[in-house]
Amino acid sequence: MNLIKIGCFVFGVTALLSSCKSNVKIEDEKTIDVLLQHRYTKLLEYPIDSLSFPRSMTVKTGNIEKVPSSDWTSGFFVGNLWQLHKLTGNAAYKERAEKWNAFIEKEKFNDKTHDIGFKVFSSFGQGLTVEDDNQDYKNIIVQSAKTLSTRFNTTVGAIRSWDFNKDVWEFPVIIDNMLNLELLFEATKISGDSTYHNIAVQHANTTLKNHFRKDNSTYHVVVYDTITGKPKDKVTHQGFNNESSWARGQAWAIYGYTMGYRYTKDKAYLNQAEATANFFINHKNLPEDGIPYWDFNDPSIPNAPRDVSAATVVASAFIELYGFTKDDKYLNYSKKVLNSLNSSTYILSSEVNGPFILDHSTGNWPKNDEIDAPIVYADYYYLEAILRMKAL
Ligand code: GLY
Repeated sequence: MNLIKIGCFVFGVTALLSSCKSNVKIEDEKTIDVLLQHRYTKLLEYPIDSLSFPRSMTVKTGNIEKVPSSDWTSGFFVGNLWQLHKLTGNAAYKERAEKWNAFIEKEKFNDKTHDIGFKVFSSFGQGLTVEDDNQDYKNIIVQSAKTLSTRFNTTVGAIRSWDFNKDVWEFPVIIDNMLNLELLFEATKISGDSTYHNIAVQHANTTLKNHFRKDNSTYHVVVYDTITGKPKDKVTHQGFNNESSWARGQAWAIYGYTMGYRYTKDKAYLNQAEATANFFINHKNLPEDGIPYWDFNDPSIPNAPRDVSAATVVASAFIELYGFTKDDKYLNYSKKVLNSLNSSTYILSSEVNGPFILDHSTGNWPKNDEIDAPIVYADYYYLEAILRMKAL
């Protein structure tokens, strides 16, 4: 068994044993190891089908929400297979990942949404970390960056996120869009064409100027006027209300500016990442086990659903942020989250038959969709956090 000791706990390919304080159930290392291995195998067993990327599931009914490659989440399942290959060394995960990757390739021409970054970078970007001289993957990433760039508006200085709701939102930019910049930064590194990097920087600068509140929490959607280039509305789509702090939105902001700093070394990005990070970890409504409620301002807290996906996005980002700042509080939060998640409170029960690892994420509360459920991107950032922790 490959174990790594970090601080007050132990984890590795397998499990975790804790003496840390936490309000989650603590099991012994072997129990957790068995639970995780069982869940990992479920990803291998999931049938290959180009139209059925697993996105989430309803535990009670066993129903798996399956989506085509055009869905913003399609790349995460493939990314999970790539990451499990890296974590376990098992070639079966890689073989599966290659097959699923092929179904995503056509998204490189899909200019209907900004989510091409999530789709292509979580799949082919992960693939490149395993097959670092795969020229086909590199070409797909560069073509995808070219497609994403067509959504950039020079007057606004940002990439348009969504095309729906056009009669209400003239030019919507959502905080989530920060994650799609990684595709652009990498495309410049691959191709030598600085266009993509420059668009990413302009988008990040515009978002920095307009998305954050005085307390360094972030709005979800900023709507721009395309004639003046100025923001004309600041609203939410997935949060509790326009002025609330949707947990995953805060997570995308922290991850996005930490990643942006990696490519630019712009101190303003690092400062914003730290400011929003501090808003997150010091919030009075953040539970003791580190897993946030889906929105920091839901009045039904402490009875509101949690969002494991927000926790895993932040846990992964904080390992990188710790690398830049050497501030232990970031690493301690990541450890706490992994510690909490490596328990039967959060690992999906072995009786559940679906290609997911963790339970208790919240996708879209206002639409009553994917509430307290296993969701594919929570697993993606969980595996990324484990790999990043191992690499420290
Ligand atoms: N990018 C959409 C979400 O975070 O739900």
